[in-house]
Amino acid sequence: MKEKYTNNALETTYLGHQVGLLLNKGMVLLLDGDLSAGKTTFTKGIGQALGIKRNINSPTFVILKRYLEEEAKLYHIDLYRMDSEGADFDMEDYIYSDGISVIEWPFNVESLLPKEYLLVKFEIISEEERKISFIPKGRDYEKVVKYI
Ligand SMILES: Nc1ncnc2c1ncn2[C@@H]1O[C@H](COP(=O)(O)OP(=O)(O)OP(=O)(O)O)[C@@H](O)[C@H]1O
Ligand SMILES: [Mg+2]
Repeated sequence: MKEKYTNNALETTYLGHQVGLLLNKGMVLLLDGDLSAGKTTFTKGIGQALGIKRNINSPTFVILKRYLEEEAKLYHIDLYRMDSEGADFDMEDYIYSDGISVIEWPFNVESLLPKEYLLVKFEIISEEERKISFIPKGRDYEKVVKYI
């Protein structure tokens, strides 16, 4: 486990960028934390690190946004509006692929989550300060956290 603090949105994007550079194909990140804690802001940085040119914004109303580039695929999933009933969406097709999956509100559909992942917890400390904790599950993810 590793903990970082950011003092504004740009720093959170930058942290996402640093993490994005460490990811391998097929990895899954679970982003947990309250509304406006910074999950989507962090995902923007991951996208930059992966060479995604399109702007990354919240997928809340569509559940999934796909960013496909030649060098990397990013699946940005938001389960805020999903409950365990809403399993009509084949999340497995994405999380067990060679793309990188970033999932906001992952514990809304806990049964579909993979065994190994990087859990990133966002906590609001003050208006602009965030605590961001990295909790790896599985050896590949432990390696990533070591270098953050
Ligand atoms: N240190 C910080 N890190 C990230 N965002 C910050 C920070 N300080 C202030 N903010 C602001 O907080 C908001 C974070 O929004 P963001 O969409 O990233 O949150 P979210 O966790 O994805 O929320 P939601 O659950 O609604 O999808 C933005 O308006 C951003 O400008
Ligand atoms: Mg969001």
